[in-house]
Amino acid sequence: MLSIADNELLTKVSAGTPTGDLMRRYWIPAVFSSEVEKDGIPHRTRLLGEDLLVLRLTSGKIVAMSPSCPHRGASLFFGRNEQEGLRCVYHGWKFDERGKCIDMPSEPPESNFKDKVTHLAYRTIERNGLIWIYMGPNQDNPPLLPNLEWNLVPQDQCFMTKRIAQNNYFQTLEGEIDSSHSGFLHSSFTDPFRLTTKQEQGMIYKMRDRHPRFEALDTDYGVLIGARRNAEKDSYYWRITQFLLPFHTIIPPYGNDPLFSGHAWVPMDDENVIALCFTYNPVRPLTDSELDFLRHGRHDGLETLHPTIDAFLPKIANKPEGAWWPKHHIDNDFNINWELQKTTQYTGLPGTWVQDSGMQETMGRVVNRANEHLGVSDTAIIRARKSLLNASKLLSEQGIEPTSVNDPNVYNIRSASVVIPKNSDWITASAQFRIADPRENFAAI
Ligand code: FES
Ligand SMILES: [Fe+2]
Repeated sequence: MLSIADNELLTKVSAGTPTGDLMRRYWIPAVFSSEVEKDGIPHRTRLLGEDLLVLRLTSGKIVAMSPSCPHRGASLFFGRNEQEGLRCVYHGWKFDERGKCIDMPSEPPESNFKDKVTHLAYRTIERNGLIWIYMGPNQDNPPLLPNLEWNLVPQDQCFMTKRIAQNNYFQTLEGEIDSSHSGFLHSSFTDPFRLTTKQEQGMIYKMRDRHPRFEALDTDYGVLIGARRNAEKDSYYWRITQFLLPFHTIIPPYGNDPLFSGHAWVPMDDENVIALCFTYNPVRPLTDSELDFLRHGRHDGLETLHPTIDAFLPKIANKPEGAWWPKHHIDNDFNINWELQKTTQYTGLPGTWVQDSGMQETMGRVVNRANEHLGVSDTAIIRARKSLLNASKLLSEQGIEPTSVNDPNVYNIRSASVVIPKNSDWITASAQFRIADPRENFAAI
């Protein structure tokens, strides 16, 4: 359990809260490059409790700014995106990518009032199909982007999706570092090992041993998590997950040509999260059949870790991230199929992410962790909470930023899955495979 005070600290992300201010020190991945066209319609998003418009200017530059016009508050969503700026359609004030007012046609020509008006705008960087936003205090000199491999490989090696979950970001994050749930929540009776495209030895170990022993340790990027299961008589199967500050996860892969997956759990506000999911191969483009699986789900119609292209409600025009609200959600009981639960599957919930979301949204928008009962299988969750809480407290109480804010290389890591002799140390045995450089050096089973 967590005290009510620490629960508040962990879950609240608005400006002025310790965790909200911590997150503002980091670059935040939010919008796909494909969502904004040159001189096109602004994309509505909401990050850390702030509504934002993201748009692409004539030159291709990306802007992230408040939708509320600093003149009298009209929405800049309706603005004219033209000639390197966004112009409010109420009285024609125009703003550049840093929020500088560059035209104020409603004021007398001799007025210099426009030089005194600055609109709230944040720094942006676009890399390999993804737009990152920096909402922190160092707008003139922001840190470098984190060297997360999934966003460093060429675009044809990484597949990304988004979906909105109606719960606090840390509930979904906890689900991803909790390896013990998959032997239950994601299992089926008829085909217990077919959780991804193919059956791998590691999946068999995972399904056979449903009470993994967890070990977790603090690192300069977050937490390194090992889940140990029995493999053969003299060996253990270790699945190694990464939690990276402030809200990233990388889950362990399978097989000898592995795909690595994970999420950025980007808080929209205290009660909603953008689940930005990635799957990549470090050394080669994704194949057509992999892409087909990622886009369209399993052959039996069930969803995978990624929402399929059919998994969304029709776009809700005036909602942030309006295209990414799933059709399986708390108000329709996630379209559970009770017959399937009796006959085929552990849950009857239609696929992997829906099963996760079904558990996490029904905890409540913000779960009260003072009521929980944590077992030994929750070791990693406890450690990840501490890691984030410590970072938030250090910043708010002593002004100390985590190393990971300013050192992009601490993110240069991978997850792994290894089978090693029972008497060897998993941290040492997996060390070389957890480095994302050299790129060919991965381990998975
Ligand atoms: S409200 Fe935007 S220019 Fe007047
Ligand atoms: Fe899961």
